[in-house]
Amino acid sequence: MSAEIESYSTERQIFKPGRNFQKRAIISGPQSWDAAIRKAEKNPEAFWETAARELLWRKPWKKALQWKPPFARWFVGGKLNVSENCLDRHLDGPRRHKVAVFWEGENGERRSYTYWQLHRETARFANVLKSLGVAKGDCVAIYLPTIPELAVAMLAASRIGAVHNVIFGGFSAEALKERILDAKAKVLVTADGGFRKGAVVALKACADEALKSCPGVAKVVVVKRCGTEVAWEPRRDVWWHEAMAAAGASCPPEALDSEHPLFILYTSGSTGKPKGILHTTGGYLTQVALTTKWIFDLKDADVFWCTADIGWITGHSYVVYGPLANGATLLMYEGAPLHPQPDRFWQIVERYGVTVFYTAPTAIRMFIRLGEKWPARHDLSSLRLLGTVGEPINPEAWRWYHRVIGAGRCPVVDTWWQTETGGIMISPLPGATALKPGSASRPFPGISADVVDRDGVPVPAGQGGYLVVKRPWPGMLRTIHGDPERYKSQYWSQIPGAYFTGDGARKDKDGYFWIMGRIDDVIKVSGHRLGTAEIESTLVAHAQVAEAAVVGRPDDVTGESIVAFVTLQSEYHPDAKLGETLKEYVAKNIGAIARPAEVRFTEALPKTRSGKIMRRLLREIASNGQVKGDVTTLEDFSVLARLREEE
Ligand code: WTA
Repeated sequence: MSAEIESYSTERQIFKPGRNFQKRAIISGPQSWDAAIRKAEKNPEAFWETAARELLWRKPWKKALQWKPPFARWFVGGKLNVSENCLDRHLDGPRRHKVAVFWEGENGERRSYTYWQLHRETARFANVLKSLGVAKGDCVAIYLPTIPELAVAMLAASRIGAVHNVIFGGFSAEALKERILDAKAKVLVTADGGFRKGAVVALKACADEALKSCPGVAKVVVVKRCGTEVAWEPRRDVWWHEAMAAAGASCPPEALDSEHPLFILYTSGSTGKPKGILHTTGGYLTQVALTTKWIFDLKDADVFWCTADIGWITGHSYVVYGPLANGATLLMYEGAPLHPQPDRFWQIVERYGVTVFYTAPTAIRMFIRLGEKWPARHDLSSLRLLGTVGEPINPEAWRWYHRVIGAGRCPVVDTWWQTETGGIMISPLPGATALKPGSASRPFPGISADVVDRDGVPVPAGQGGYLVVKRPWPGMLRTIHGDPERYKSQYWSQIPGAYFTGDGARKDKDGYFWIMGRIDDVIKVSGHRLGTAEIESTLVAHAQVAEAAVVGRPDDVTGESIVAFVTLQSEYHPDAKLGETLKEYVAKNIGAIARPAEVRFTEALPKTRSGKIMRRLLREIASNGQVKGDVTTLEDFSVLARLREEE
């Protein structure tokens, strides 16, 4: 954690909800927002119980919350099924033949599924999983492009009480292997490939490579997406379409304990290997369903498009579970935002009449750079609400998004949350909140977020501090898979009596939160979360590297970019070619998202007397070539001078 937290400059501009929007909104007017927050504050458990009652329970819970710090159980004794809540529940009424999913492939292919169809596909695939020996509690790894089969596989796993572990399709074979082994997956669902930027990403080939060291994976289900040649292991591999054709379309959902594991999703932390964040059933679905409804103001006539990849938490909660739990129509797009032209997103918005659009600041900044002519080519008048997530949004980008994409008419909800929180934690409610560009506004009702000092004492308005959550919330991670000690030490030991988020923030005099970003050794590149330690250990594994330190450097489009400082084993000498080799090495071992923008060779790294690398100094050098901060704990000042000379 950095010792000093400086806060951003204040933004004064305020956007009030328009009268038209407010009139139709689910939560309407500032008084309703205040009242909801106040009411939830008085009795948070009762607030979440009311939300949970909107779901279908097979057995009612006995107790809303059991809190044995830092371990929480929500809706204790209750039983329900996530896929039943997302699918079956909608089949008895007018949503039966409503479109649940519009899907567009990067190659222009299109499909749609009604609730009834999605239900049948899910039940079929649940039977496939059973026939492959998957039982309640078993883990199913999923490594797919953004295609409907991905949602079907998740829902099917949840239907039979299997635990899914979705691995982002951009991860390398090595990263895939690590996650499969840690989660102890029995079955892997993958595809021959997926389309990205006009090319085929060879997922099956990566999976084959990974599985060489995963003896626990007995079966692999392969979706034929691209029609490319793939290697085949007849005793292990089965085609999705063949298995589906042989399976029955009826599979009753299992009634599962509210605390039954729903999924494990790996994310990067400040130290060591990726953490398997464990989410469970009842609490997670309650928070995700309610936040989707209130924050995205979702109604039956909406088409909701969250552009996140399903391999990240945003895709889990707001592409798949939140919208489906609300019986909404969602849109899924497989490919890259600029393919074949920079107006692909806007073309999709126009074609499907998207009404609510949720994306990342990095995408917005990229669109700003490309110019207004691209969105101007399309009729975006169906849009009524915009959202952002994943990193702080700079007020200029917020205003551009509001003016150009939203035509000044659509509120922008800046939503703060994390893989660990399961659902949105701090966000405006679009029909009720006066918006300040750059601020995620206030915590969602029932969420006790605050900004505190190192001792857990709230800091005065306007002062920077640590962003914490003081009370357990329904969608919170339950533990780190297989490592409860790490769960305790990473999240619940740094600030007394609270969950520490890893972010710095400040509150203004209106109680609005301004998130300043990570203050631990996690960086966000294009909204992707990367642990510096992970990249460093990969670099150090290269035969020529002695030591490595990785830091983030501010970037106008991607938020941050990766700079690696590297010292070589004595017999090797730096050159540009080696720099490129090392970048490639990281991309191959983790995935292209982790490729350093720059590799800088140095004779030694600046360290404290206790041997800790002084990242703050490296960050400053990487960002502006200067060091202003305190250097009194630095061991060898000459190192600093040399790093500067090497500019
Ligand atoms: C950052 C993504 C500022 C933050 C859902 C957090 C944000 C990390 C915002 C979690 C926001 C997310 N404003 N920063 N609206 N939303 N972040 O786990 O640093 O990929 O800790 O979850 O993203 O990243 P993760």
